Amino acid sequence: MTLMTWNDSFSVQNIEMDQQHKQLFELLNNLHAAMSQGKGRETLSDVFDGLVKYTHLHFAAEEALLKKHNYPGLSEEEREHKELVAQVSDLQKQFQAGDFGASMKTRDFLKHWLIEHIQGSDRKYGVFLSQKGIH
Ligand SMILES: [Fe+2]
Ligand SMILES: [Fe+2]
Repeated sequence: MTLMTWNDSFSVQNIEMDQQHKQLFELLNNLHAAMSQGKGRETLSDVFDGLVKYTHLHFAAEEALLKKHNYPGLSEEEREHKELVAQVSDLQKQFQAGDFGASMKTRDFLKHWLIEHIQGSDRKYGVFLSQKGIH
């Protein structure tokens, strides 16, 4: 079963960022699938790593885009991203230390975080950019 399905309510009206958000959904769905199928620690660890790496990449791309266009909410956006990275890296450490439940906590945490962050903060910059005619 799919954990998250992208729809227009997640659109930030920017093609590249929408694409990256869709990719994050897919990676999270992959983690969910690997867990549902009872995949072993090594597979979970790889999927986990891929998700964390892509999250870093996405945040860097998003922050660079907002900086380029002098988005006034950039520091708030950066603060939220930093918080997420810190929490996920904590969960990842727990997982690496043998706590399998940490992968479930991460999945649920990311699911809720992504929904709230994209539909909240990210959509705010989407309005700002689209008012400037940047898509
Ligand atoms: Fe963001
Ligand atoms: Fe984002």
